Amino acid sequence: MNIMLFGPPGAGKGTQAKKLVDFYGFPQISTGDILRANVREGTELGLAAKAYMDKGELVPDDVLIGIIKNRLKEEDCKKGFILDGYPRTVPQADALEAILDEIGRPIDVVLNLEVHDEMLVGRISGRLMCKCGASYHIISNPPKKDRICDICGGEVFQRADDNAETVDNRLDVYEKQTQPLINYYKKKGILVTLDGRRGIDVVFNNIKGILAKFA
Ligand code: AP5
Ligand code: MG
Repeated sequence: MNIMLFGPPGAGKGTQAKKLVDFYGFPQISTGDILRANVREGTELGLAAKAYMDKGELVPDDVLIGIIKNRLKEEDCKKGFILDGYPRTVPQADALEAILDEIGRPIDVVLNLEVHDEMLVGRISGRLMCKCGASYHIISNPPKKDRICDICGGEVFQRADDNAETVDNRLDVYEKQTQPLINYYKKKGILVTLDGRRGIDVVFNNIKGILAKFA
């Protein structure tokens, strides 16, 4: 099963992706996580991407298309994959279609998580991350031990782009550059919109209900 998680910053894409990985065993392909790993490791790609990410701007399409093309051709994607945070623009979506046509693995469903802006800001400003990719929230989803990741025992931290100014710009960028993809996938007949305001487990149960039709 090939799944795309879609929605604004803070909608819960990463949170649901992790639960889907545990449940179905498909790999999560989060372009944000790939870019952050490159920033941490100080690669050329990371150095170039950091300036965009810190401002809440999108990293240029050609960079992202290159990343996704390589990643989707890896062996573990053959059984299925979960896209999280890609595509963010129409050129990225067109490129994805060409790549998936080439490897013969089309997207089965686009899960669009709908959450209003006020709630998104609350989620993002309270988010805690771990370098293993796990994501928490200081109120709604705290780690069991204070500031310690439940999964790897590492110390959780706030993401560099989870600050007030950057968040406003990220929401703006989403509205202008990414939201048009809702119609793009609606026209293809593969978009399913979910109420992302509900609790994490309620959203996950709804997702499982939708995916049961594709298993
Ligand atoms: P990326 O890492 O993709 O960030 P984003 O889209 O801004 O999305 P987030 O990761 O902030 O939100 P999420 O939906 O994953 O929410 P989460 O599950 O963590 O991108 C970062 C940057 O990288 C971009 O700004 C750009 O610069 C660059 N980039 C990445 N991909 C790119 C691309 N394709 N093209 C160009 N540039 C790209 O949840 C948020 C919080 O809410 C957590 O604390 C969580 O615990 C909590 N929470 C989640 N669900 C619920 C719930 N149901 N109820 C209560 N709390 C919840
Ligand atoms: Mg995320």
